[in-house]
Amino acid sequence: MESNDKTTTRQRWVVGNWKQHLLRAEADTLGRELIAGLSPELIDRDDSVRIGIAPTFVALESTRPWTRPAGPLWLFAQNVAAQESGAFTGEVGPAMLLDAGAGGAIIGHSERRKHYSEDDGLIASKVRGALDAGLRVILCVGEPLEVRQAGDHESHVISQLSAALSHLTPEHFTDRLLLAYEPVWAIGTGVAATPADAAAMHRRIRGWMEEHYSRPGADRSILYGGSVKPGNAGELIAAGDIDGFLVGGASLRAESFLSIIQSAATE
Ligand code: PGA
Repeated sequence: MESNDKTTTRQRWVVGNWKQHLLRAEADTLGRELIAGLSPELIDRDDSVRIGIAPTFVALESTRPWTRPAGPLWLFAQNVAAQESGAFTGEVGPAMLLDAGAGGAIIGHSERRKHYSEDDGLIASKVRGALDAGLRVILCVGEPLEVRQAGDHESHVISQLSAALSHLTPEHFTDRLLLAYEPVWAIGTGVAATPADAAAMHRRIRGWMEEHYSRPGADRSILYGGSVKPGNAGELIAAGDIDGFLVGGASLRAESFLSIIQSAATE
């Protein structure tokens, strides 16, 4: 892990994706429990691990006391519009997220690709628009089960990545651009990728980035997501090449999320 090297844009992150869960009061309570459970070293040492939460749009405001700049957590939205503003019913643009206190957005999550038909072109526009507006981006890529079974997982993920980054210029490759490898078959199933398989994909992604973008373009945090739990977080991080986690189900309870954070911070 190179996170203490000031020339690198790699940083360890653990981000909770709360999906379509928690009413505002529940989001507030979970934020409060997280802060109460975080050890002072974790809160003060920004270079150890950064801890993020991604509530629903309507709960962004209620988590503000726990998120930057008032609190230590980093606040992400789960989605963002591709366009700045206009006649786009139901959409929320990058400036609106910044205005609501979010510093970043998850883009290209497989649930959005699957249930809302988000394609590579739309995701590329969202990535570009969010970075232009000053947001941090967690760009998600990952293969479905049948693609892995056919042995095409690496080419599938590289094709998603290449498309999503296709609208960017060298100036966009700052530490605000994070990647997350989330195999679709591991999300919400209880079956995480093995540490070896996850690390292999992270190396493939990093290798491809190095071939296509000069350092520091290639040198960024790659998180793993998909059934991360207290019981497997330590071995996943220990495999190397994994810079942290995007956590769904296990981020909805303070105890399990804090345990994952602790593993990410100490390994
Ligand atoms: P999970 O979800 O941890 O519940 O598998 C991860 C994600 O969708 O980001």
